[in-house]
Amino acid sequence: MVIKDYLIDKPILNTDNLILRPITVNDISDLEEWLPDSELYTYWGRSANKNELEPKLRFDDPRPNIKRKPNPDFVWGIVLKSNMKVIGEIYVINIENNRMAKVAYRVSKQYWGKGFTTEALKCVVEFSFEETELQKLWTDVDTRNIASCRVLEKCGFMREGMIRQGKMNLTFCDYYLYGLLRDDYYGK
Ligand SMILES: CC(C)(COP(=O)(O)OP(=O)(O)OC[C@H]1O[C@@H](n2cnc3c(N)ncnc32)[C@H](O)[C@@H]1OP(=O)(O)O)[C@@H](O)C(=O)NCCC(=O)NCCS
Repeated sequence: MVIKDYLIDKPILNTDNLILRPITVNDISDLEEWLPDSELYTYWGRSANKNELEPKLRFDDPRPNIKRKPNPDFVWGIVLKSNMKVIGEIYVINIENNRMAKVAYRVSKQYWGKGFTTEALKCVVEFSFEETELQKLWTDVDTRNIASCRVLEKCGFMREGMIRQGKMNLTFCDYYLYGLLRDDYYGK
């Protein structure tokens, strides 16, 4: 499969402890438990928007009759198998020329430090390089976001550089760029 084959139907991925699947309207109450938490946005580059403060708004379509183009982004809810709750989200976005894409993730604070983000990201890396033609995954991380740096490094990402007082999302901060190449993944 190539990325464009996933334009309409996004895959469901599985790990030992997690299911990664599209988020649906049935997940609103799970999202409400953690998505508005201001602590999630400390290093997110912006504060929570209205859809994050009130997750049900995500499913309100203000113009339901407009036919929209399918969204190429991959947005998976991270479902914990032990309780079947959506405890986080992980994304592959900004896909450029089917070649390079950005990863991002966030998990409910209640579940931090249990290895779940690392498990989800490893799965997304495997999917990206084994099931699509992506050549590079990358992300930017506020230098103070030690947990996120650690997650990336555990998944094989390399710190490629640091931008001083650059614009990350809507804020200005020192941030690292991390990248993982297909060649790194296959040990070439
Ligand atoms: C970043 C985030 C997703 C990490 O999630 P998580 O599920 O706790 O990640 P994991 O448990 O897989 O791994 C976290 C690692 O960071 C380490 N860590 C966390 N805080 C740390 C600190 N202050 N100092 C050193 N290590 C730290 C943990 O010990 C763990 O490493 P280990 O397995 O070697 O012990 C979570 O903190 C989050 O959602 N933050 C808010 C959103 C966000 O910042 N997203 C990333 C944007 S780039």
